[in-house]
Amino acid sequence: MIDRHPPKDDFAADVLNGLSRSQKWIPPKYFYDARGSRLFEDICATPEYYVTRTELKLLSDVGPDIATITGRDATVIEFGSGSDAKIRRLLDALRAPCAYVAIDISRDALERAVEDLARDYDGLTVGGICADFGTPVELPDEALNGCGKRLGFFPGSTIGNMDRPVARRFLARVREMFQPGDGFLIGVDLRKDRDILEPAYNDASGVTAEFNLNVLHRINRELGGTIDIGTFRHDAYYNEDEGRIEMHLRAMEDTSFRVADTPFSMRRGETIHTENSYKYAIPEFVEAAEAAGFWVVQSWQDKRSLFSLHYLTAV
Ligand code: AVI
Repeated sequence: MIDRHPPKDDFAADVLNGLSRSQKWIPPKYFYDARGSRLFEDICATPEYYVTRTELKLLSDVGPDIATITGRDATVIEFGSGSDAKIRRLLDALRAPCAYVAIDISRDALERAVEDLARDYDGLTVGGICADFGTPVELPDEALNGCGKRLGFFPGSTIGNMDRPVARRFLARVREMFQPGDGFLIGVDLRKDRDILEPAYNDASGVTAEFNLNVLHRINRELGGTIDIGTFRHDAYYNEDEGRIEMHLRAMEDTSFRVADTPFSMRRGETIHTENSYKYAIPEFVEAAEAAGFWVVQSWQDKRSLFSLHYLTAV
């Protein structure tokens, strides 16, 4: 395990700053405390949230193609270590992968992922880098020598939670970490009809609403907040012009509260914006990848054009 000592999040400063804006905003990374991470797993299992299921099936279907493009002895570098099922599906498809390295800001998540894979994949060199993959991360030579091609892996359409210019900068930074010929496999959710998109973020069982509201519970608990959570309602809708789902917490009546001793008030109907989830058309994503210095070897989508996987190679 290599520790690059990523800077710690400043939850208090980010929340105080975000709540002071005219459009109030809380960064979506704060959803993921222990309860939020469990709720996110529950979202992935709801019938309406097609993202996880569709990507997993696509990974199985195109696994042989990915293995052919990659060749033997790959070193797989995963950005984040969230989805055990997806990395296993990729490793199972590849031919004799040599090493697996996860990059994650959370030391705990990293340790769990690395231990589990090392136990189950005999002969695979497994390592972790504790770092923020939003910043340039130097890859360790020890983990890479003697192996074949490097294959970056970034599933889940996590890129969709970055604003479009940030996503382009992220792709350019990833490109800098790789050498010409290295691969980068990325999952990207597609633009589609709002009749499919909106239910995916408004599941009937209310898990996404709980996930969204959970950030208010976290503020009350960790920052001495006095928010009356019953006043707020989950609100998620497709902003078609921007090609993104927006999640908000809407105040249903005028309300006042304190966070870390700072007073705030909101009018009835006013919202706290908590997440954007950008959707791409395939040509739009291909253009962004090529502008970042990648060549798109192949793009795949499921039969209903819900979700896409792209195999990029560094040029
Ligand atoms: C993690 N991320 C890709 C999810 C998404 O679809 O944007 C987070 C999420 N928010 C609500 N539901 C799922």
